[in-house]
Amino acid sequence: MKLKQLALITSGMVLLLLLLFPAAAFSDAQNLETSQHKWGPFDQSYYNTFAVIKPATISNEALQITPDSAGNFTLANRSGRVFFNQSFVLWTDSDSPGSATTGASGRVASFNTSFLVNVFRVNSSAVPGEGLAFLIAPNLTLPQGSDGQYLGLTNAASDGNPSNHLLAVELDTFKQSFDPDDNHLGLNINSIRSNKTVSLSDLDIQIAPNTTKFYMVWVQYDGVSRQLEVFMAEQLQDPKTSDFVIRPRPTTPILTANLSLKDIVEQNSYFGFSASTGSAIQLNCLLRWNLTVENLSGVGSEDSKSQGLKIGLGVGVPVVVLLLLGLGGLVYYVHKRRRAAASDQNILGALKSLPGTPREFEFKELKKATNNFDEKHKLGQGGFGVVYRGVLPKENLEVAVKKFSRDNLKGKDDFLAELTIINRLRHKHLVRLLGWCHRTGMLLIVYEYMPNGSLDNHLFGGPENATLGWSQRYKIVSGVASALHYLHNEYDQRVIHRDLKASNIMLDSHFNSRLGDFGLARALDNEKTSYAELEGVPGTMGYIAPECFHTGKATCESDVYGFGAVLLEVACGQRPWTKMGGFQCVVDWVWSLHREGRVLEAVDERLGGDYVAEEAERLLLLGLACSHPIANERPKTQAIIQIISASVPVPRVPPFKPAFVWPSSSLPEGVSSVANTVNTTSSWPLGMSVSDRSEWTPRSRYDSQDSYGGAGGYSDSSSLV
Ligand SMILES: *[C@@H]1O[C@H](CO)[C@@H](O)[C@H](O)[C@H]1NC(C)=O
Ligand SMILES: *[C@@H]1O[C@H](CO)[C@@H](O)[C@H](O)[C@H]1NC(C)=O
Ligand SMILES: *[C@@H]1O[C@H](CO)[C@@H](O)[C@H](O)[C@H]1NC(C)=O
Ligand SMILES: *[C@@H]1O[C@H](CO)[C@@H](O)[C@H](O)[C@H]1NC(C)=O
Ligand SMILES: *[C@@H]1O[C@H](CO)[C@@H](O)[C@H](O)[C@H]1NC(C)=O
Ligand SMILES: *[C@@H]1O[C@H](CO)[C@@H](O)[C@H](O)[C@H]1NC(C)=O
Ligand SMILES: *[C@@H]1O[C@H](CO)[C@@H](O)[C@H](O)[C@H]1NC(C)=O
Ligand SMILES: *[C@@H]1O[C@H](CO)[C@@H](O)[C@H](O)[C@H]1NC(C)=O
Ligand SMILES: *[C@@H]1O[C@H](CO)[C@@H](O)[C@H](O)[C@H]1NC(C)=O
Ligand SMILES: *[C@@H]1O[C@H](CO)[C@@H](O)[C@H](O)[C@H]1NC(C)=O
Ligand SMILES: *[C@@H]1O[C@H](CO)[C@@H](O)[C@H](O)[C@H]1NC(C)=O
Repeated sequence: MKLKQLALITSGMVLLLLLLFPAAAFSDAQNLETSQHKWGPFDQSYYNTFAVIKPATISNEALQITPDSAGNFTLANRSGRVFFNQSFVLWTDSDSPGSATTGASGRVASFNTSFLVNVFRVNSSAVPGEGLAFLIAPNLTLPQGSDGQYLGLTNAASDGNPSNHLLAVELDTFKQSFDPDDNHLGLNINSIRSNKTVSLSDLDIQIAPNTTKFYMVWVQYDGVSRQLEVFMAEQLQDPKTSDFVIRPRPTTPILTANLSLKDIVEQNSYFGFSASTGSAIQLNCLLRWNLTVENLSGVGSEDSKSQGLKIGLGVGVPVVVLLLLGLGGLVYYVHKRRRAAASDQNILGALKSLPGTPREFEFKELKKATNNFDEKHKLGQGGFGVVYRGVLPKENLEVAVKKFSRDNLKGKDDFLAELTIINRLRHKHLVRLLGWCHRTGMLLIVYEYMPNGSLDNHLFGGPENATLGWSQRYKIVSGVASALHYLHNEYDQRVIHRDLKASNIMLDSHFNSRLGDFGLARALDNEKTSYAELEGVPGTMGYIAPECFHTGKATCESDVYGFGAVLLEVACGQRPWTKMGGFQCVVDWVWSLHREGRVLEAVDERLGGDYVAEEAERLLLLGLACSHPIANERPKTQAIIQIISASVPVPRVPPFKPAFVWPSSSLPEGVSSVANTVNTTSSWPLGMSVSDRSEWTPRSRYDSQDSYGGAGGYSDSSSLV
C-alpha cells in the first residue's frame, strides 16, 4: 500500500514536470491580459477620453450619439459617432515570432462589452427613427451623408464595401425596404443591410417605446471559437436615487453568429457607437458602457517571448514545489474523504454516470449566490423544496436554486430521480439544468433562472401583473405541447411529467414557455405505458385525471388530461377548480357552453374581446377533448401539436361530457401507445348519456391549490422578487 502510493506520487511528479515547463513557457500565449474599462455616468471630462464626433454631444449625463433636444440643434437628418479614442489590436498574423512569416494561424482578440441605452421618442405619438449601433471601425471619422437609413455607419457610396472594415450591432427603429420591421436588432458587416436580424417585438422588447425604458445590451466575442453573442434585457431605474438596478445578463443570447474578426475589421480598430435620425427622430442616449478587450499588442514580439519564459520559470518552479507538498496532503485527504463518503456512495455513483455538461457546485458558492438562502430571494415553495433566486458571481449569471427539504434519504431519491432525468433531456421548452450540489443532509439543484416566473403568476398574479395577450397565450400552450410531445415520444425513454400545471410552466425573458419541475417524473421503459407509484399519485388537484384516483397510475394520457386543464385555464383565465355558472369546475362549465353553441363566452374576460376567435375555439375544444373522462379517448401529443398549429381540425367534441368508465373494464394496458394519427371524425361516440359529474370529479375540494405542494418549477403563485 505504502509502496504503491509512493510510486504513484513519483510518477505523478515526473509527469507534472514534463507537462509544466512547456505549458508555463507558453502561458502568455494561452492567457492574455485584458484591458478593462467602465464608463459613465458621462460628464464633460469624457471629451478627453472619447472622440465625440459632431453633432454628437455629451449632456444630461449621457453620450448623445445624435443631438439631444436639450441643446440648440436640429434633430432631423443627423448622424453622429462617439468612440473610445484608443485603438485596439484585434488580431495578429501568428501566435509566435517563429512562425511570423507563415501567417497561417494567428490570434483574434476576444472582447466583451455591455452598454445601457435609452432611445427616447421626443414626440410620443410620432414614429421614432432611425437607429443606434455599437460598432468597430478603422478610424475616428464619420462618413458624410450617413444620416437617415445609414445609421452613421456608411453612406450611399460606401455601403456594402468590404474596405469599410466595419462590424456593427444595430438597434433599428425604422423600417427600410430591406428591414424586417421597425424594431429589430441586426448584425451588420460593412453595410446597413444586416447579415442577421432579430425581431425584438417577438421578445417583448421595444427599443423606442412610448415611455422611457432602459435596455442593457451585451455583445460578447470569443476569439477562439470565433463566435459573437448578443444579449439584451430591460433595466429599471430606482425612481428615488436614479440609480440603475442592474439585472445580470440573461443566459440565452438573442443573436449568435460565427464570424472571424480578422476577415472583417482592420488590425487596429476603435470601439464606439453611431446613430442617425431621418425625417423621423429619436434621441440616441448611452448611459453606461463597459468594455473588456484582450490585449494582443504584446503577442508576436521577441520581447514577449522572453518575458513569457521568465514568467514560466518564475511561476513554474515554485508551483512544482507546492505541488509536491500538496500531493502528499491530497493522498491523505482522499483517503480520509473516501471513508466519509462511503455513505454517499450511491449518489456519487449515480452522479458520475451522468453524461452531459451540468456541473457540480460548491455549497459555499450557492450559499453566497442566494445570500445565505435569504427569504427575500425565495421564488416559491412546494412539497419537495424551496426555490431561491441567486446570482453566480463569477459568471454574473442569474439562477434558480432548488433546495430539497425532505429528510435525508427520501430527499436523495427525489434528487436523483430529478437529476438523472432532467440531465438527459434537451428541449427548448424545458427548463435547463445547470448543475447540482450535495452535502450531508442537503441537496440542491441549480436551474436556469426564468425572469418571468410561472404562467400561474401571469394568469392569476393579481393586478400588478399585466394580463397576458392572446398571442402570448397561444405561443405558451404551443410550447408546452411540444415539450410534452418530446417527453412522451421523442426522447429515447418515455417520460411522464406527472405534475403538469400552470405553476410548473415557466416563462423565459421572451415569454416562451418552459416546462419545469420533473421532481415527480420517472423514466419509463418504452414498453410500458404506466407506472405505479407505491405512494399513490402525487400531483395537484384539478389537474389529475379521474382514472388516477382509481388506478394510482400516472400515464401519458393523464399528462394529456393535465394539459387539457392548462389549456382551459389559459383560455378562460380561471383555475380548474373554480365554480363557474353553477358548475362545480371549469371543464363542466365550458362543456355546457359548448353544448349551447356559445363556447367563446368562456374566453377570459380580461382580454376584452381582443383574441382570435378561431384560435380560442380551437384551444377550448381541444381542452375539452383532453379532459375526456376516458383516458384512451384523449388525443395524443402528436395530434395536439397538429391541432394547435391548425394543420388538423379539432376532433369533434360530444355535446355532453361522456361518463367515466372504470379503467379496469376498459381497454387493456399497452393499447394507448400505438395511435399516432388523429382520427378526426369518429373517435368520439355520439349520444353518450349525461354523466353524473360527481362520479369522476376528483373527490377532495382542493380549496388550497398548494395542498399537494406544487413542488413548483419555482412555483405556486408566490410573487417574484
Ligand atoms: C485620447 O485620450 C487621451 C487621454 O486618455 C488624450 O490625452 C488624447 O488627447 C485623446 N486623443 C484624442 C485624439 O482625442
Ligand atoms: C440657437 O442657435 C441660433 C443660431 O445658432 C440662435 O440664433 C438661437 O438664438 C439659438 N437658440 C437658443 C434657444 O439658444
Ligand atoms: C466575456 O465573458 C465571458 C462570460 O460571460 C467570459 O467567459 C469571457 O472570458 C469574457 N471575455 C473577456 C475578453 O473578458
Ligand atoms: C460594468 O461593470 C460593473 C462591475 O463589473 C457593473 O456594476 C456595471 O453594472 C457594469 N455596467 C455595464 C454598463 O455593464
Ligand atoms: C407629434 O406627432 C404627431 C404625429 O406625427 C403630430 O401630429 C404632432 O403635432 C406632434 N407634436 C409635436 C408637439 O410636435
Ligand atoms: C476611415 O475609414 C473608412 C472606412 O470605414 C474609410 O473610407 C475612410 O477613408 C477612413 N478615413 C480616414 C481619414 O482614414
Ligand atoms: C454577410 O457578410 C458577408 C461578409 O462576411 C458579406 O460578404 C455578405 O454580403 C453579407 N450578407 C448580407 C446578406 O448582407
Ligand atoms: C403612445 O402614447 C400616445 C399618447 O401619449 C397614445 O396616443 C398612443 O396610442 C401610444 N402609442 C402606443 C403604441 O402605445
Ligand atoms: C457556429 O458554428 C458551430 C460549429 O462550428 C455550430 O454548431 C453553430 O451552430 C454555429 N452557429 C451559428 C449561429 O451559425
Ligand atoms: C430630411 O431628409 C429628407 C430626405 O432627404 C427630407 O425629405 C426632409 O425634409 C428632411 N427633413 C428635415 C427636417 O430637414
Ligand atoms: C498590452 O500589452 C503590452 C505589452 O504586453 C503593454 O505594453 C500594454 O501597455 C498593454 N496595453 C494595455 C491597454 O493593457
